[in-house]
Amino acid sequence: MKVLLGRAEIARRVAELGAQITRDYEGRGDLVLVGVLRGAVCFLADLMRAVELPTRVDMLGLRSYEGMTGSEARVTADLVDDVVGKHVLLVEDILERGTTVAAAFACLRERAPASVEVCVLLRKPEGLRTTVLAPVRYVGFDIGPEFVVGYGLDYEGRYRNLPEVVVLTEEELTAAGSGADHRRASGTEDTP
Ligand code: IMP
Ligand code: MG
Repeated sequence: MKVLLGRAEIARRVAELGAQITRDYEGRGDLVLVGVLRGAVCFLADLMRAVELPTRVDMLGLRSYEGMTGSEARVTADLVDDVVGKHVLLVEDILERGTTVAAAFACLRERAPASVEVCVLLRKPEGLRTTVLAPVRYVGFDIGPEFVVGYGLDYEGRYRNLPEVVVLTEEELTAAGSGADHRRASGTEDTP
C-alpha cells in the first residue's frame, strides 16, 4: 500500500477549495452541496466545514453500469429536498471516464436549479475530456491512471475508511477482490 495523498495534504487542499468556493458563492443566495453516495462522504464532510457560507447538504445515490449505449448510470437514492432556484455544487470523489459525474449533472440540471457546478477531489487523466458533458469547476488533485482507495474510495466495498488516499499493489487488489476487472467492479459500487 503506497500513500499517494496523506492527511495533511488532503486537509490543506480541501481548505483551499473551501476558501475558493466561499469566495465564488458569496452573496449569491442558497448553496446546496450535493455529495454522490458513497465515495464522496469523507470529502463532503470535510469540504462542507471549509465553506464559510450558509449551506445546505444533500446526497444523491447513483449506480453506474455498462448499458446499450456504453456506460450509463441511474439514480438509486434521490435528494431529500428540491433544489429549484438554488445554486447546486455537485461533490464527487473521483472523475475517471466521467459517466458518474455526467449522469449526476444531467439529473440535477433537470430540476431547475439556479446553477450546477461540479467539484471533484481527484481527477484521472481520462477525466480531462469530460468537460463537454459536465463543467468541472473545482478539482482537488490531478492524479495518474492508477487505482486508488481510501478517504471514501473503495475497492469491492473495502478501504473507504482509510484516512489517506493510497494506491493498492496488484497483489493487494487480487487479495481484496475476486480478481475481477477492478475498474468495472468499482463502477457498480456507488449504491447507497
Ligand atoms: P467514471 O464514471 O468513469 O468517471 O468513474 C467514476 C466512478 O468510478 C467513481 O465514482 C468511483 O466509484 C469509480 N472509480 C474510478 N476510479 C476509481 C479508483 O481509482 N478508485 C476507486 N473508485 C474509482
Ligand atoms: Mg463514486
